[in-house]
Amino acid sequence: MDKQVFHFTQSSTAFYFNGSFGALKEITDLKNALFITDENLFAAYPKKFTGKRTIVLKAGEKYKTQTTVDKIIAQLIAYGADRTTTLIGVGGGVITDITGYVAAVYMRGIRFGFVPTTILSMVDAAIGGKNGIDVGIYKNMVGTIRQPAFILHDHQLLQTLPQKEWAYGFAEIIKHSCIKDAAMFRLLQGFTIDTIRRDKKTLATLLRQNAQLKLSVVQRDEFEKGERKLLNFGHTLGHAIENRYKLPHGYAVSLGMMYACRLSEQLTGFAQTAQVQQLLQQYGLPVAKKIDLQAAFEVLTKDKKKDGNSIAFILLEKIGTSTIQPIPFRELKKLLASL
Ligand SMILES: NC(=O)c1ccc[n+]([C@@H]2O[C@H](COP(=O)([O-])OP(=O)(O)OC[C@H]3O[C@@H](n4cnc5c(N)ncnc54)[C@H](O)[C@@H]3O)[C@@H](O)[C@H]2O)c1
Repeated sequence: MDKQVFHFTQSSTAFYFNGSFGALKEITDLKNALFITDENLFAAYPKKFTGKRTIVLKAGEKYKTQTTVDKIIAQLIAYGADRTTTLIGVGGGVITDITGYVAAVYMRGIRFGFVPTTILSMVDAAIGGKNGIDVGIYKNMVGTIRQPAFILHDHQLLQTLPQKEWAYGFAEIIKHSCIKDAAMFRLLQGFTIDTIRRDKKTLATLLRQNAQLKLSVVQRDEFEKGERKLLNFGHTLGHAIENRYKLPHGYAVSLGMMYACRLSEQLTGFAQTAQVQQLLQQYGLPVAKKIDLQAAFEVLTKDKKKDGNSIAFILLEKIGTSTIQPIPFRELKKLLASL
C-alpha cells in the first residue's frame, strides 16, 4: 500500500494506492464508522461487511435521489451516528456520490472516506469532492463540493466487476487521455479490456496515473472556475442524454465524446475523430445511437454549467489538447441540428 496526501483549499485527502480493504482498520477507527454500499457489493463480499454497521442501498443510478438520502439519514439516526462518526462509501460512483452528499449534510457535515469499486469511481467519481443526487432527468442537480478524508484502492475488488462496467470505466480513462495526455492515448491503443485485465502492472499504472491526473486538476481548480471544466469533455451532452435514455454513465459519456469531437471539427478544426472513435470501439464503447438532440438541447438549457445564454463546451484541438469554449444556445441549436 502506498500512501500519498493531497491538499485542497480547506482539507486534505489521504490516498492509498494499491491497498487492501483489510487495511481500512489502519486508516480509520472502524468502531466509529458506518458503511454505505449497494446490494451487489454486499452480496459479492459478505465477509468484508461482517460485524460492521452497514447501510445497503439498491444498486443503480435511479436510486441516486433525495428519497434514498432521506432513508439513509433515518438509518443514521437509528444507528445513533453523530459528529464523530465516519461514513465509508464502498461502491461505484453512485455510492460515492451519495455517501459524500449525506456526509456533507448530516449534522451539517461529518467525516467520510471511500473504497471505490469500479474503474470509473477509482479514476474519477470518488476523486475531487463533487457529490450529489439527481433530480428527475437532471443529473447531479443538487450537491456540494467536499473532499473525502481518505480514498483506498483495492484492485482485488475489480475481479467481480462485470465486463461492461470495465468498458464504462475506460470511457473516463479515454476522456483523460483525449483532454490531457496523448502518450496515454497511444498506450491505450495497444490494449483492449481483455488484455488490460490480464496485464495487472499496466492496469495498476493506469489506475494510479488517471487518479493522479484528476487529483492534480482538482488541486489547481477545486471549485471549477477554469481548468477543472476540461474534465467535462463528453459530459455536457452525455449528462443531457444519460437519464432521459436511462443510459449507464460511461455509455452516455462515450456518445458525448463523439458529439464533442464532431463539434470540435466544426469549431477548432479537430481532425482526429476517427482515432477517438476507433479507440472507444476497441474498448467496447458505443459511438452512435439514435438520440433526439433537440430534446437533449432543452435539457442543456437547464444545465448547471450554463452561463446565461451560453454553455461551456469542452472541445479538442488535437488528441491530448483541449479547450473550453462558451457556445451561445442559439448557435448550439444550429450546430446540433447539423450533427
Ligand atoms: N462525483 C464525480 O466527480 C463523478 C464523476 C464521474 C461520475 N460520477 C457519477 O458516478 C456514477 C457512475 O458510477 P459507476 O459507473 O461506478 O456506477 P455504479 O455505482 O452504478 O456501479 C455500476 C454497477 O456496478 C456494480 N458494482 C460496482 N462495483 C462492483 C464490483 N467490484 N463488483 C461487482 N459489481 C460492482 C454496482 O452495484 C452497479 O450495479 C454516476 O452517477 C455519475 O454521475 C461522479
